[in-house]
Amino acid sequence: MYTAAVLTVSDRSFQGQRADEAGPLAASLLEESGYRVVETALVPDERAEIEAALIRLADEAALVVTTGGTGFSPRDVTPEATLAVCERLTPGIPEAMRAASLAVTPRAMLSRAAAGIRGGTLIVNLPGNPKAVRENLEAVLPTLEHGLDMLLGGPADCSLLFSREKQPKEL
Ligand code: MTE
Repeated sequence: MYTAAVLTVSDRSFQGQRADEAGPLAASLLEESGYRVVETALVPDERAEIEAALIRLADEAALVVTTGGTGFSPRDVTPEATLAVCERLTPGIPEAMRAASLAVTPRAMLSRAAAGIRGGTLIVNLPGNPKAVRENLEAVLPTLEHGLDMLLGGPADCSLLFSREKQPKEL
């Protein structure tokens, strides 16, 4: 079981003008998938505050999921904050989320979500609305655990894992 943290990035929720539904939804989807959610946090769309929160949460959890601030509005800077605190990028994750989401809505192409690795933590951006949180997270959740296994020294050999997965079909 891996630890996870959820960061909601939203001016309106931070100012108390809108209840944060996206963060709690992301947390419950993670828990349903077997993650232990150790912290949830809420920051406004301020790059310095997002970066500080990501750095802090990455010290506490193997997986940090953000929601919000991935669109085109001038205040949407979550991907930039994420890229600034990551040492290595994991572009396949947002590629997979956008590919799956494009089957639902062409507006999926408007998400600038990024993902990357900071130390022993994977950080993944999600869009802000709860429907998009579910659609994006469900597209990648089943595969993230293998990435964390590789990152954190678990069963990292993809070829061995692949041959194990193939076995039942071959029998
Ligand atoms: N992806 C899915 N699966 N479903 C959605 O409804 N909304 C899109 C996109 N990705 C959406 C989605 C829209 S309308 C926008 S503007 C972007 O995510 C960015 O959202 P954000 O600004 O809330 O981060």
